[in-house]
Amino acid sequence: MSANAVRTLWLPVNAESIAKAARVLEAGGLVAFPTETVYGLGARADDSRAVKRIFEAKGRPLGNPLIVHVRGIAEARALCRSWPEEARRLAEAFWPGPLTLVVACRQEVIAPEVRAGQDTVALRMPAHPAARALLDACAFPIAAPSANRSASISPTSAEHVLKSLSGRIDMVLDGGRTGYGIESAIVDVTRSPVVLLRQGALTQMDLARVVDVVDCSSHAVKEDESRAAPGLMDRHYAPEAITIVLPSNQIKFEVERRIAQNERIGVVAYSDAFRFHWPDVRVEMLPGRADAYAAELYAALHRLDDAHCDSIVIEAVPDGLEWAAVRDRLRRAGAPKPEP
Ligand code: TXA
Ligand code: MG
Repeated sequence: MSANAVRTLWLPVNAESIAKAARVLEAGGLVAFPTETVYGLGARADDSRAVKRIFEAKGRPLGNPLIVHVRGIAEARALCRSWPEEARRLAEAFWPGPLTLVVACRQEVIAPEVRAGQDTVALRMPAHPAARALLDACAFPIAAPSANRSASISPTSAEHVLKSLSGRIDMVLDGGRTGYGIESAIVDVTRSPVVLLRQGALTQMDLARVVDVVDCSSHAVKEDESRAAPGLMDRHYAPEAITIVLPSNQIKFEVERRIAQNERIGVVAYSDAFRFHWPDVRVEMLPGRADAYAAELYAALHRLDDAHCDSIVIEAVPDGLEWAAVRDRLRRAGAPKPEP
């Protein structure tokens, strides 16, 4: 542990702990709290020193901007230079909830480190009662990335937060397991049609009911490189173990090949074919529905990391837009580790 280690308080969510958390944030401290997607690591968004502590605690590159959590549409509008028609429609349909809107930033209130050099800012109004109570107890917006070390698996419980950030943050508010279990969808509303920058707890179909939306991997958007999403690193949401995603019919071969090399193996699967006992292999069976699968995925990966698996073999998930966010996380989890 580093010399400037702090003692991390672990408190259940209640009126007293929320009030205490608000005081810690007000004084420039770091508080992890539950949202309906994953746990966030909060600092006051109007204080450069507090925001810099988030980057230090996570080991996050300074070029990767943070999401600012707000109390509602009025506060969001006050933080941005323009509030396009698409923003109005999306916020009315999905806030409070797992949707983040990237808007043109009015720069007086938000600390520049939050934006990481962008002239935009990402805003979200969370639905989780603890997150809302915390915001209500504060007089400032809260910048909060997911509460994990940079590039590793996001936390869906307070235990996950402590595993990676204990001794580096002031407090975690324990509200049990989060509901969606996967991060918010991020939509850039400064462009028209709006651009889905990150697949997430809301699907592209959900969004398309309200606005015209294109995915950032679409050709037209890729061409416009100056506006590419910052910070969406290729290897992300990644366990410590080597992670391989394979079609169902290649899982058995790959697992047996690795067992022969004396590796400790974990498997993440959803097909009934894998519902059998495999000696010495830890199998995490997940639900076959996209939203239920997403809710369980990170916890399963955390368990396999805790079991010190050398490699995790993951059954590829079905095609189809409802699986897009899960496919994106699996692709990033399986991306090669950067050279040290
Ligand atoms: O569900 C969530 O969104 C969770 C909870 C805690 O709210 N937060 C979260 O934050 O996932 P984080 O920092 O792990 O992911 C935020 C993503 C990053 O990929 C970042 O690059 C992108 O949002 N982002 C932030 N500000 C941006 C901006 N101005 N323009 C484009 N992308 C931005
Ligand atoms: Mg994150």
